[in-house]
Amino acid sequence: MDHSKFLTFFAIITLVLTFADLYFYFGIRSRMSKKWKIVYISFSALTLAYVFFGAYSYFAGNKIPPILKIQVWGTILCIYLSKLIACIWLLIDDIRRLIKFVIAKIRSTPNTDENGMPRKKFLQLGAIGTFGVLFSTFIYGIVRGGYNFSIHTVSLKLKNLPKNFEGLKIVQISDMHVGSFLTSDPLEDAFKMVAELKPDLIFFTGDLVNDISEEALPHQETLKKLSAKYGVYSILGNHDYGDYVYHEEMPDYLEKKAHNKVLMQEIHRNAGWDLILNEKRELVIGDEKISIIGVENWGGGRFAKYGDIEKAMKDVDDSTVKLLLSHDPSHWDAQVRPMFPDIDATFSGHTHGMQFGIETKYFRFSPAQWRYDQWAGLYEKGKQQIYVNRGLGFVGYPGRVGISPEITLITLEKA
Ligand SMILES: [Fe+2]
Ligand SMILES: [Fe+2]
Repeated sequence: MDHSKFLTFFAIITLVLTFADLYFYFGIRSRMSKKWKIVYISFSALTLAYVFFGAYSYFAGNKIPPILKIQVWGTILCIYLSKLIACIWLLIDDIRRLIKFVIAKIRSTPNTDENGMPRKKFLQLGAIGTFGVLFSTFIYGIVRGGYNFSIHTVSLKLKNLPKNFEGLKIVQISDMHVGSFLTSDPLEDAFKMVAELKPDLIFFTGDLVNDISEEALPHQETLKKLSAKYGVYSILGNHDYGDYVYHEEMPDYLEKKAHNKVLMQEIHRNAGWDLILNEKRELVIGDEKISIIGVENWGGGRFAKYGDIEKAMKDVDDSTVKLLLSHDPSHWDAQVRPMFPDIDATFSGHTHGMQFGIETKYFRFSPAQWRYDQWAGLYEKGKQQIYVNRGLGFVGYPGRVGISPEITLITLEKA
């Protein structure tokens, strides 16, 4: 993001959140003792000061420790967001009083509010309760939800699957966002779970880091622990290009982006992964083979489109089963299905299931579904399938609520 866009974004967000904070305070202050009022105001002043410190650090290009940038920042946003949503109760109260006031004016009668106090108290308590529930849920998501790795098991039925590939176990992981982890311990835990599944093949579908390749350096030894009988195949996600840090206003930004990519390729190589950039590979077992195709990030809307599916599909053996790795599932409807109806299955990530939602056997919801037609799990259209992994790490909100970090065990079966 360039500086002027960041400044506009920062100004709007700060104004909205400060307004919500003040509105919430004036709405509930009659329910607070003097001591709590001082606590509330001090905390708001501190959080606002932190917001300005964060913006200053961004402009000054200061490297602040990840815990301040991710966990503390995330907690502050959770406080504001909880207040913003809780304000709905107070808004109901204000609208109710405004309507009564207007009616009294029209009728030229005194604006009596006999039932006003109990109703006001109810709405105030509703606001405080909503804040409490939301805030504790968000904090639980930060402390536990972000590390609660879960294994999703999927049977992928493919026509023309060669006999030697029947029962092949593929583990897919995606969106590690290692820059969000303060230590390698969560990755170690997740990779131990992966190893216990004894995968034949591992697919990593992009977004290794948040901003720059250097974030992965402290985790290099851990990344090497991801291994499978027939190898680890990887691709890049939208976060792996340095696009969110290096922008046109920066001196030598092209060199910085080039360095970022070289380092990223080196990290994948050192980890022992086969990074596929608009290319194909052939996996041979006995006298049979399948094709694994990997594209660079191709994102819908404002996201960068580095992926070149035509280049990647060049010289792919027509007779083989074709598995495609493409980070952003928007690519499937936009290019993969219309251009290459012979790609049997696509593996994506990117949506994170918005790290927020509800998933039960009978019902599921996440704001991700408003943005992506395919946002989590297996989808089928015609003869083609896509699996969208919910991601292993987190970005933005430093946790997860209702959408656990995912390790997918996919078993290939003949349809
Ligand atoms: Fe991601
Ligand atoms: Fe992504």
